[in-house]
Amino acid sequence: MKRQLCNDIYWVGALEWSKEFFHGHELSIRHGTSYNSYFIDDEKKVLIDLVRCSQHEDLFRHIEEHVKIEDLDILIINHAEPDHASSLPEILKRNPKLEIYVSRGGNISVTRHTPGVKQLNVVKTGDSINIGKRTLKFFEAQMLHWPDTMFTYCPEEKILFSADAFGQHFASSERFADEIDNKGLWYEAEKYFANILTLYSPQILRKIEEFQKLNWEVGIIAPAHGVCWRKNPAQIIEKYVEWASGKTSDSAVIIFDTIWGGTEKMARAIGRGLEENGISIKIFAAGAADLNNVMTEILSCKAIIVGCPTLNNGLMPTLMPFLEELRGLRFKNKIGAAFGTYGWSGECVKRIEEGLSNAQIELAADGFKCQFNPHEEDLQKCEELGREIAAKIKAG
Ligand code: FEO
Repeated sequence: MKRQLCNDIYWVGALEWSKEFFHGHELSIRHGTSYNSYFIDDEKKVLIDLVRCSQHEDLFRHIEEHVKIEDLDILIINHAEPDHASSLPEILKRNPKLEIYVSRGGNISVTRHTPGVKQLNVVKTGDSINIGKRTLKFFEAQMLHWPDTMFTYCPEEKILFSADAFGQHFASSERFADEIDNKGLWYEAEKYFANILTLYSPQILRKIEEFQKLNWEVGIIAPAHGVCWRKNPAQIIEKYVEWASGKTSDSAVIIFDTIWGGTEKMARAIGRGLEENGISIKIFAAGAADLNNVMTEILSCKAIIVGCPTLNNGLMPTLMPFLEELRGLRFKNKIGAAFGTYGWSGECVKRIEEGLSNAQIELAADGFKCQFNPHEEDLQKCEELGREIAAKIKAG
């Protein structure tokens, strides 16, 4: 396995090839993940970030290919979420004299996660430390994605250690994005942004602007998950700006659940109306579709069209996680509409519209519902709904 980033700087992290979920069951990951820790072999022996506690033996083995744990001098914790910092007690057992550097937020998160931890050095943007031939500079990168997140930058090597930012859940023997199949990798980077970072988009835009004003020349971005960006590393920063800006394409996501197939027929008819008018669509079955993949498609689509039969005077439970995730992530610049079948009472459309409004999605058309099985004239109305939304998408 390739572990060297440049002279004297090595990846010493850990891989989880078959992990399927992250944050409990919040986030599906289909390419495994890595917890990236980096070792700098200078006059001071420096470690940047740790790994999940369950993987600490891998971390220790990789470090000890270069130096004994007991001889490490400095640990920088860019972000203290347990996937990166829960092995802190294990490393302190071996090396209690380790000097630890954290951000102001890290001072809180590290001490709360690791009771009794001492000798924390708190740094802020513009602070730096000399480690011998090299310098390490710090940048507080709050909300990318926690208030404790900071970046560490090595100007002599032009490497930015960026914590979770610019990362991907992607396990790989390779260390650089330009060494692997980029399609899956970019999807994972976008999925990470859509599901973890969308809510913080305004802060992210401000932080990236603040970072760019520092004029730090970046040759390699080394995130805390996945592989490093070496070939045109500015590309991933530009993508973050695009995603955080809420830029949309002429596309729509339709998500539905169905009991006897009527709402699915409506979903497909709405899709026909959109497609006939040049709008790309993705249709997902709620409950069966991977919710995180749905959110990834929503990141850059313009319209979200949600359908459900009325059940128990409300919605089918399968729609609730979707609507809750939509509310929480607070996507920008989206329009939406509702549809569904009903038997007797017919609350489905109203409840979906409430969910879309709670998520700050602008309702672009009156919702449409039909009783029991949609007839041909109902499906024509669905197609018309699709055409109406297509016109709104094209109007921007
Ligand atoms: Fe990868 Fe926010 O932890």
